[in-house]
Amino acid sequence: MTELYYFDNSATTLKKPATVAEAVYHAIADGQLGNPARGSHTASLNALRLTETLRQKTAKLFGVPDAANVAFTANATASLNMVLKGLLKPADHIITTVTEHNAVLRPLYQLEDQGAALSFVGVDAFGTLRYPDFEQLLRPDTRAVVVNHASNVTGNAVDLERIGSFCREHGLIFIVDASQSAGVLAIDMMKQHIDVLCFTGHKGLYGPQGTGGICLGDRPLAFVPVFTGGSGFHSFDKHYPAQMPTLFEPGTQNVHGLAGVSAGLDYIQQKGLDTICRQLQALTFRFHDQIKDIPGITLYGSFAENVERAPVVSLNLAGWSSGDLSDALFMDYAIAVRPGAHCAPLIHQAFGTEKTGMVRFSFSSFNTVEEIDYAAKALRILAEEG
Ligand code: ALA
Repeated sequence: MTELYYFDNSATTLKKPATVAEAVYHAIADGQLGNPARGSHTASLNALRLTETLRQKTAKLFGVPDAANVAFTANATASLNMVLKGLLKPADHIITTVTEHNAVLRPLYQLEDQGAALSFVGVDAFGTLRYPDFEQLLRPDTRAVVVNHASNVTGNAVDLERIGSFCREHGLIFIVDASQSAGVLAIDMMKQHIDVLCFTGHKGLYGPQGTGGICLGDRPLAFVPVFTGGSGFHSFDKHYPAQMPTLFEPGTQNVHGLAGVSAGLDYIQQKGLDTICRQLQALTFRFHDQIKDIPGITLYGSFAENVERAPVVSLNLAGWSSGDLSDALFMDYAIAVRPGAHCAPLIHQAFGTEKTGMVRFSFSSFNTVEEIDYAAKALRILAEEG
């Protein structure tokens, strides 16, 4: 089979540490993992031990004040739906940004249909948030701020501490979508004043698809459970338990998948988040520097050296639609990228690319400099061929 040069890691990381695959295999093959919190026999306790250990590892990675504040879900979309619909009300005003993914926008639009008011912080020509907008958009009924840590289109990362301080100053709930930054950029919920962090397990954490979670900070928040069902205890109560982590974990957990996430977190811990971060920055800038002068190229996002960013480079080439360019990269060079609108309509409107879309390259710690150089060369040849 032809080797695939995979640069679609913002959609999902394809290459995972071998230990992740082994962990998922053993989770099933060894026949030792039952249903956590559903019994006191060995198999149930083994599963409970696994989920509780993973809560501790996750709490450590994100600076969560208490491991019990970590709940596991099916993905970041599930997390965001449970958080936004479980916390926000029709009478609320919510500030969000034009960089958001539909996983944030569509639940917010549903709330808007019920009466909630939304305001959007805009971006400059480089896709950087216009931070003064937060202050200008503030209203007496503003209840929450929802932002993604890093854009899945430009890779630009936001200053969480700055927005978190603004939220604390005005008594607002600070909700962060870390889909593109978990395992990629440093997150410290306490330092950055984050009240709710939603993450996925299958991207920068190198876990299997179908995993994700919600972390809560140190301020009490009253959620209405969006999904209810069996919790393993309080079976005679008509209402679903409101305490963490059960609040977001109705039904049977994806313990086999979580075994993989646990191995993914071990990989990050052993390699070091700092090292991963530096490696990804180096790959991103190496690619950017090789392609930035290609005639007819347009690059999106900020590539200032001192600014934190996710490993994403989105572009267009004159004369090509993003779909055709992605097809040519795949057919001629076995390069996998993602064209189109990336489920983030407002940032495309901000750049005027709602019709053309963009071609997005996104990297993981399994990409090599040789692959980056190969992709840059392929892009240059396609630009010359027109
Ligand atoms: N949200 C993912 C992406 O950006 C799937 O591709």
